[in-house]
Amino acid sequence: MKLIITLGLLTSVYTQEANYSELGKKALKPLKMGLMKELKQGIKTHGVSGAIGTCQLKAPVVTEEVSTPSYTVGRSSSKYRNPKNKPQAWMEDVLKSYETTASKDSQVIRLKTGETAYVEPIYLKGLCLNCHGAKLSKSVESELAKLYPNDKAKGYKANDFRGIFWVKFK
Ligand code: HEC
Repeated sequence: MKLIITLGLLTSVYTQEANYSELGKKALKPLKMGLMKELKQGIKTHGVSGAIGTCQLKAPVVTEEVSTPSYTVGRSSSKYRNPKNKPQAWMEDVLKSYETTASKDSQVIRLKTGETAYVEPIYLKGLCLNCHGAKLSKSVESELAKLYPNDKAKGYKANDFRGIFWVKFK
């Protein structure tokens, strides 16, 4: 009897996690697509250094638009560019877990507040290094210095862990 109850509980926890994982993935899709669209359009129209201003303008708007009354979404990193993306307390251990293991797996996390969160790790591709890499063009350097005087998000290599996409369910 005890075993059945335990199994039942485990199954229900497992099902819940799978549901949050599904919901999280769905919630992040328009955020990823929206950011990528703005980034590519920005580079096409204004060049790489000009697209920094586009990202500064559009990234927060896209992020805001994707959130709903039942969840909020965002990005975070230990080495953030926009101070608004500074990790919230619950994100610090999550970021550390990816920094130490370089895992590519998403996670469903139960927060101390009783809320649930979903996170996915972000790894850098070649394109990203134009604005986050170790060697930046002069125009990118000067644009970053102007728009993000306390920028921490430089010096990366391809395939480095950069940060997380997160969803917090209400
Ligand atoms: C044109 C320059 C540019 C390129 C290319 C670029 N980024 Fe960024 N990135 C930025 C800017 C500017 C911000 C800050 C946006 C803001 O103000 O919210 C940023 C912010 C971020 C953040 C949020 C955390 C933080 O530091 O504030 C992540 C994560 C990120 N970028 C990952 C990537 C990835 C992955 C790629 C490649 C697919 C990429 N970036 C390509 C300019 C760029």
